[in-house]
Amino acid sequence: MKVLMLNGSPHEKGCVYTALCEVAEQLRKEGIESEIMHMGAKPVAGCVACGSCAKTGRCFFGEDKVNECAEKLRAADAFIVGSPVYYAGPNGALCAFLDRLFYSASKSFAGKPAAAVVNCRRGGASAAFERLNKYFTIANMPVIPSSYWNSTHGRTPEQVRRDAEGLQVMRDLARNAARMLKGLQGQPLPQYEKKIYTDFIPRLDK
Ligand SMILES: Cc1cc2nc3c(=O)[nH]c(=O)nc-3n(C[C@H](O)[C@H](O)[C@H](O)COP(=O)(O)O)c2cc1C
Repeated sequence: MKVLMLNGSPHEKGCVYTALCEVAEQLRKEGIESEIMHMGAKPVAGCVACGSCAKTGRCFFGEDKVNECAEKLRAADAFIVGSPVYYAGPNGALCAFLDRLFYSASKSFAGKPAAAVVNCRRGGASAAFERLNKYFTIANMPVIPSSYWNSTHGRTPEQVRRDAEGLQVMRDLARNAARMLKGLQGQPLPQYEKKIYTDFIPRLDK
């Protein structure tokens, strides 16, 4: 069993990475493999709603790692997204990345447990955390709980390593992830119905 973790910070080995490493180490102790994928620091295009992914299952833009992440996640059993807190939300580039990842490929993520992890210097962690959970709860992905809302505090990795409570929350997240993964092993997905779309204003052609 393998957990894919996406580091949505532009800093490859910064605070978010430090928090994800704590999750990875506890997962290892629980017998679960993991990989930390870095989103990178290059600009990430937002979704332009071209609709081509509905036909191809891939995002039309190929310059960044969105399609690579989709392939890795299809092969993984669970997903953990880490983000720095920017203006009390997730990193904007990460939201652009996740919009395109989920819009193009989320059907294949159903049933995979998922969680968000955020790091802030001081405030806005809960709002950023909630925003990220929206991706999972619209995609039939069970959200992995922990013993607090998953956040660490620090401006530097060294400060994060001194956030004893934050790191404990990361370890509890890993423990719950392992338990969920083991419990779900071999369990088939429910038979989902064909999606019903009811726009607020009914379409004239339907
Ligand atoms: C554009 C920007 C906005 C930020 N907004 C916040 C914020 O609202 N609250 C906060 O506590 N820290 C804020 N920070 C600090 C980052 O959360 C912090 O530097 C980051 O979590 C460090 O993680 P990293 O080393 O993985 O990038 C902001 C930083 C930047 C660059």
